[in-house]
Amino acid sequence: MTAPIAHFNGKLTPLDQISISPLDRGFIFGDGIYEVVPVYGGTMLRAREHFERLQRSCDEIRLQNPHTTDEWIRLSQELLKHHPGDQSIYIQVTRGAPKTRDHVMPKGLTPTVFMMCYPRVPPTREQVENGVACVTHRDFRWEKCNIKSTSLLGNVLARQVSADVGAVETILIRDGHVTEASASNVFVVKNGVVAAPPQDHLILLGITYELLVRLASEGKVKLEIRPITEAELRAADEVWLSSSTKEVLAVTTLDGKPVGNGKPGGAFRRMHALFQEHKAALKAKGAVAA
Ligand code: PDD
Repeated sequence: MTAPIAHFNGKLTPLDQISISPLDRGFIFGDGIYEVVPVYGGTMLRAREHFERLQRSCDEIRLQNPHTTDEWIRLSQELLKHHPGDQSIYIQVTRGAPKTRDHVMPKGLTPTVFMMCYPRVPPTREQVENGVACVTHRDFRWEKCNIKSTSLLGNVLARQVSADVGAVETILIRDGHVTEASASNVFVVKNGVVAAPPQDHLILLGITYELLVRLASEGKVKLEIRPITEAELRAADEVWLSSSTKEVLAVTTLDGKPVGNGKPGGAFRRMHALFQEHKAALKAKGAVAA
């Protein structure tokens, strides 16, 4: 089998021919940022928003973004010519490869740019219809979770807590409040009103989270952005996860106990339908969809 085509520092190259210096600060320090853009039948979903968030991540870590949003979109489209169908585009930028290891940010370093595609694995029909199991854990990560950093050890350790018991996600609690999950955002529903946690430094503001907020407002679904206590999470009628890979998914068991009546609720079904309609409308729009 030939290796898939990836993008490395301005060139399209077979993935297995890319080599990265062991001194690259991404390897040594996890000193980099990334994005994951979902692609439906060749159309990127909210590409502009993803690359604007990449810019914010660059700004937060004082990294010169090597490309403008328009350039990123063009580079993605070039890569997508080699990857038809439903894909995820992974984009990573690190601070580059200096000559020695030193925590201090070196001046004048060229960032390392890497992009690859892999087929999207959508949630299964079973997961959509029956919901998924999650567990909770203390949020032991750092205080700059708004940066989409490649330093994901905290998220990896958090995710493993659920993987170890066969659950789909670990919902994180910091100082008595829900933040997010290891690789997704979290919503709760009580009496038909959806709540989403504040858009602060303790969560990654998901592009899917923002899309759900927009779809809720257009679809006349009541949604509040406010702190959510652990008690509210445990007493919720519905709990949802959202991400570019999971779209929107209902959580039907939490720490082994049923959420609400243990089935995906009415608000979830409404939001899931709105999301699917939005996706269906994408194809008509062309290569970069809003
Ligand atoms: N993860 N919170 C965290 C910690 C995440 O890692 C992600 C996404 C999200 C949701 O963001 P979005 O809706 O923009 O995908 C929230 C990606 C998919 C990943 O790391 O693979």
